[in-house]
Amino acid sequence: MTPRAHVARAPGRVNLIGEHIDYCGLSVFPMALRRSVRIEFNPRADREMRLADRDPGFAPSAFSVSESIPPGPAGDWANYARAAAQALARRFPDLRGIDALVESDLPIAAGLSSSSALLVAIALAIMHANRVTMASLELMELLARGERYVGTAGGGMDQAIILGAQAGCASRIDFQPLRLTPTAVPTGWRFIVAWSLVHAEKSGAAQQAYNERTRQGDEARRLVASRRGLPEDTAYAALLTADSVDELLKVAGASMPQVLSRRFRHVLTEGARVRQAEAAMAAGNLEAFGRLLDASHQSLRDDYEVSHPELDRLVELAREAGAAGARLTGAGFGGSIVALCRVERAPEVISALREKFYAPRGVADDVERHVFVAEPSGGAEVLAPG
Ligand code: GLA
Repeated sequence: MTPRAHVARAPGRVNLIGEHIDYCGLSVFPMALRRSVRIEFNPRADREMRLADRDPGFAPSAFSVSESIPPGPAGDWANYARAAAQALARRFPDLRGIDALVESDLPIAAGLSSSSALLVAIALAIMHANRVTMASLELMELLARGERYVGTAGGGMDQAIILGAQAGCASRIDFQPLRLTPTAVPTGWRFIVAWSLVHAEKSGAAQQAYNERTRQGDEARRLVASRRGLPEDTAYAALLTADSVDELLKVAGASMPQVLSRRFRHVLTEGARVRQAEAAMAAGNLEAFGRLLDASHQSLRDDYEVSHPELDRLVELAREAGAAGARLTGAGFGGSIVALCRVERAPEVISALREKFYAPRGVADDVERHVFVAEPSGGAEVLAPG
């Protein structure tokens, strides 16, 4: 890569609350991290994409930009680059490719959206190299749809926060229509992220379980809508304007198998928690926010069944060490937790996790790669050559 290369940078994200409900069209409340994917790139004169990664664990990859790019093997990291390139090629004719060198300080498959960050960074690099632009909200939606290329029926949270985050803030993301509303994170609050040491690969082992949840959420919604005499395509948000949460839960309890009604209960209660959490943050009410994190974890563990014993253990240890609340973050099945505490309590929480979670599991060195304070950061950007 020449010293004149441009750089596209896309942060990871930690979802504070509103888990597994973006694909139901309900609001979520994430923030972007300072850790990010960085891509040095130069435009090419042809349609070729040449990708390399500074981490030798990721083999170089090459493909041609087109409206229909054949996918690499399942789990191939470059599939996220193919997804970005194909989505843009369907929107803009005659795109040229780039030479790109990827590096990242984001933990991989840890529930912090390293793969969507890669996809967004590649998209920004291709757009910059081709001098094409697009309204930010439109790009968020295009890339959310585009990422389904890898086979995961994901919602739109990750691409929206990665592109639209504001430094110092968490953002409520509404869908249909897409909109971001920032709230400043109080300066005395600390969100701690801790990885369970269990990989949760969005395009790998967790994919089937994730896609099953999206189907169940949809089926429960259709059953309740038809029970209420509403059209089958009535969205969750519309169900909630027609009836109260309690009424809807009663209908669900009486009209579907238990597992579906538990999935439905998670979606509705989590949706309510998002609004309450946003208000708690705006009011600086850390205890209330913490209780909502705890309730979210319980719901994800018992009703949605996406937790993992190692996530449950981390949550428990964080609380014991004085966190106001904690929960799994991201898709689950492994990945990370997020815990909230006061700034002065953060060192204690981190050292408790270090001693009681990481040390017994044989992780003593560079623990700060696995457990760290999340700094609410700005969204993705292209930096001019330095
Ligand atoms: C993954 C998906 C998101 C969202 C979360 C769960 O990160 O990419 O769209 O569904 O899982 O909240």
